[in-house]
Amino acid sequence: MESNLQRTLLETVRGRTFDDFLFVPQLSVLERRDPATIDLRALLSEHITLQRPIVSANMDTVTRAPMAVVQAEEGGIGIIDRGFRPGDLAPQVREVEIVKRTQHGVITDPYTIAPTALVADAAEAMGRLGVGTLVVADGQRKLQGLLTERDIRFVDGATQVATRMTPLDRLVLHEGMLPLDEAQRIMVERKIKKLPVVDTDGRLLGLITAKDILKQRNLPFATRDRHGRLRVGAAIGAKGDYLERAAELIAAGVDVIVIDIAHGHSVVMAQALEAFRKRFGDVELVAGNVATAAGARFLAERGVNGIKVGIGPGGGCTTRLTTSFGVPQVQALVECRLGLGRDADRIPIIADGGVHRDGALVQALLFGGDTVMLGSAFAGTEETPGDVVHKSVLLPESQKVVKVPFKVLRGMASIEAVKDRLDVEEADVVDLQAMGAEGIEVSVPERGSVRPIIREMIKHVCSAISYGGAASLAELKQRFSADPAQYVVALSIAARRESYER
Ligand code: XMP
Repeated sequence: MESNLQRTLLETVRGRTFDDFLFVPQLSVLERRDPATIDLRALLSEHITLQRPIVSANMDTVTRAPMAVVQAEEGGIGIIDRGFRPGDLAPQVREVEIVKRTQHGVITDPYTIAPTALVADAAEAMGRLGVGTLVVADGQRKLQGLLTERDIRFVDGATQVATRMTPLDRLVLHEGMLPLDEAQRIMVERKIKKLPVVDTDGRLLGLITAKDILKQRNLPFATRDRHGRLRVGAAIGAKGDYLERAAELIAAGVDVIVIDIAHGHSVVMAQALEAFRKRFGDVELVAGNVATAAGARFLAERGVNGIKVGIGPGGGCTTRLTTSFGVPQVQALVECRLGLGRDADRIPIIADGGVHRDGALVQALLFGGDTVMLGSAFAGTEETPGDVVHKSVLLPESQKVVKVPFKVLRGMASIEAVKDRLDVEEADVVDLQAMGAEGIEVSVPERGSVRPIIREMIKHVCSAISYGGAASLAELKQRFSADPAQYVVALSIAARRESYER
């Protein structure tokens, strides 16, 4: 049941978006705005909690493995885009695998080599896989020893691995899985950097390395699965190869699948959700995008674990220009949240798009998002895919021309992105034109790593919590929904200019 408060909020936000509002400061209760101590936990989906409410967009110029790794290390998550050619599943699966292998508490499937293999094979495998240690195991995965780069340096390639490895009788190992604290204690005591874990028959269960334990300690907010691996999501479509794609991504260990289509409140989506659930049971599933109460309910009724909200607010997006359809993002968030009714506590919303200043992050979180998905805010960073191109730019003051490094950001429905997904050899030009682009391609100045950008965003969310009179994100959200009128100021044009035009 909609309360009067909620109906009033709905009226206030109709036809409006982020820059139409400010929040009124409240009595601050926080002594320090320290991101290390303020609880920012948020649900990405029904069963996945993030320490930071940030998600990088599934766009082919934003999120591939390098972006997803940093997002997860910093407490958010990255969703690998589906901008790969139809039927070509391996490239997207590889991105997921890279994230899942980047950093582990326990490496449950370490790279192995047979004792009978040659040193030359081991050297080749180490180079190809980018690892310095191989676990030596026989055909039944029984542990035989460890082989490190040092063991084979300057050794004749025709030598057998078995003669160079540290054999079982000189190896410190552990029978049965153990907590990382315990593994660390053993490593310190025995002065080792790697601890293989085996079952009672001596079969390999995993490998724990000192490097990974250290990383775990240094990244206390990282988003990890129950094995200590970083979490990652991946997007699929609702037609064509989407079920095969999902099957391969799930096999690679993806943590959440996002069925992402431009208009998620559709018959196509209903069919896709039904087929997905039938084949994959309760695999964590987010779907979108929708922007109305009816759209959110439509997805909730079909058993999704999370809903992505946003039709047209995105930086690289021209849907509203080309079709005049869409809902201003703040209205969409409030509507979808209210539309979910009692399900709102169970099914989280990802506020997707339109967040182009850090202040809008907290607006997206209070008006209805549990987490926020960002694309252009991360564009141009080192971790985005694509090459840096140098362009000549005229400096207005000095009239000098300088070369500035740029990277490309493009909407996933831009002609350029669509073309890349098709087999260009076969695509006929008329077809491409007929599709109608709903996105654009823009150049964005190159600006270093995304990590400080995320950390800055987090600091700003913490400051907003302080201004909002709360001690945690959850508390601020709770206070806001109990009495939105206490917070929300709708701005006049002059007030908007005073607030947001700099
Ligand atoms: P921001 O504003 O963070 O938004 O850049 C990212 C979101 O924009 C959406 N997106 C598109 N929407 N046509 C669209 O209508 C497009 O070509 C397009 N590309 C991205 C998407 O939801 C993304 O997460």
